[in-house]
Amino acid sequence: MRLRDARRDYYRNLAHEQGFRSRAAYKLKELNQSYRLIGPGFYVLDLGCAPGGWTQMAVKLAGNKGKVMGIDLSYVEEIPGASIVRGNIEDESMVDEILEYFGRKVNAVICDLSPQVSGNWTVDHAKQISLNYSCTKIMDKVLIHKGNAVFKIFDGEYSMEFRDFLKKKFARINLTKPPASRKQSSELYIVCLGYTA
Ligand SMILES: C[S@@+](CC[C@H](N)C(=O)[O-])C[C@H]1O[C@@H](n2cnc3c(N)ncnc32)[C@H](O)[C@@H]1O
Repeated sequence: MRLRDARRDYYRNLAHEQGFRSRAAYKLKELNQSYRLIGPGFYVLDLGCAPGGWTQMAVKLAGNKGKVMGIDLSYVEEIPGASIVRGNIEDESMVDEILEYFGRKVNAVICDLSPQVSGNWTVDHAKQISLNYSCTKIMDKVLIHKGNAVFKIFDGEYSMEFRDFLKKKFARINLTKPPASRKQSSELYIVCLGYTA
């Protein structure tokens, strides 16, 4: 078995054993170990949450004093400790529902969005980055001062422009790839700490 396959199996097995719905949960766990995006008692908004691995991990990290909401276009089975909403993050009216659930601004916005991929990289990259800009529109209305965020990006032509856009909004920005993210995938994560607005 090649190292890359072994690693994929490692995270898949771990997710299965520990009851996480996706191996992606470990990407969030690793990002959190490095950057402490989410701490106990945090209110966390998860955009593009299906099937729910990040939401499950966010519930765990935020603990019983925290609050978590996950939003996706697809149906997501109930997750104890989280509110799941079926909706489109490109629809800015989602903001009302978000603020109503939390009752105040949130401490972290986590975004792991992927569009339906067409196979045409230029198109898929542009669409994915556009989804991230939509997330920032929601984020600007719901994230607390000094709050944190993370965005998955399909790396490409518009990545640095998006990173620079985020740089103006946060005290600290890091472009990173956690070990649980497959080396051959072009995804990267932009970790944003200390929202300045
Ligand atoms: C890679 S998956 C997320 C995996 C998730 N973080 C986990 O740990 O299970 C990306 C998700 O983005 C969602 N998505 C794409 N466009 C969306 C949109 N406009 N509004 C809401 N969700 C969207 C897709 O439906 C898909 O479920």
